[in-house]
Amino acid sequence: MHGKGNKGRFNVALKAVLFDLDGVIVDTAKYHYIAWKGLADRLGIFFDEAINERLKGVSRMASLDIILERSEKAYSADEKEALATEKNDAYVVMVKKITPAEILPGVVNFLQELREAGIKSSVCSASKSAGMIIDLLDLNPFFDEVLGGSDITRPKPDPEIFEMARDRLGLISSECLVVEDAFAGIVAAKRAGMKALGMGEESILTNADIVFHDMTYFNLHDVHLFFDQKIALKEESTRACLRKPKDL
Ligand code: BG6
Ligand code: MG
Repeated sequence: MHGKGNKGRFNVALKAVLFDLDGVIVDTAKYHYIAWKGLADRLGIFFDEAINERLKGVSRMASLDIILERSEKAYSADEKEALATEKNDAYVVMVKKITPAEILPGVVNFLQELREAGIKSSVCSASKSAGMIIDLLDLNPFFDEVLGGSDITRPKPDPEIFEMARDRLGLISSECLVVEDAFAGIVAAKRAGMKALGMGEESILTNADIVFHDMTYFNLHDVHLFFDQKIALKEESTRACLRKPKDL
């Protein structure tokens, strides 16, 4: 992405990091999968991990629509509402047992670095359970804003949630960095005019500015270098260097 955007003309400092939740801070995808799989099996609809990949970052109702693509029966809006509730009830039973031990590697260190540096942070999740999950993980003190699916009307890939966080923090888009594990989430970040750091596989997150496997692979210093475009991140040598886990 170097060479593009307004960073080529003047320097804008990093003032906030906007985090997706599921798959970035905690691996709730496995609980979403178990809950959707239970529903699909009951309805006799084929559903596997590959289809599940398409649900990441996507709203509950849009996820249901993806699952129902393979259904021979057509469902009314009321029936779909009931199916989504059935899935969510099963999901919430599992997710209520979540503890801080399930926070993904490197997350707390990076959040601490942001706090110490005075850089703001926000959760920007499609999930209506986002607030409850952040509470259960004891992560509230690290975030200036916790925005979830109930705060917005247009789910990702619409940029609404990132724009809302930006506005609540009193910033402009070019001061914000989004951390996301879903293609749809990175589309939303880009539509909001923000840089996007992908967590996961480069082959999937092809639209991210840079991709790391997890948060042990970088620290705030690296993020500043990336954000300020002082390193050419699309060069293999730089990526190889940044990919070393910092705690090894
Ligand atoms: C996203 C998940 O964070 O939240 C999706 O990646 C999920 O898989 C979406 O469908 C909505 O979550 P919820 O908890 O409101 O059903
Ligand atoms: Mg996610």
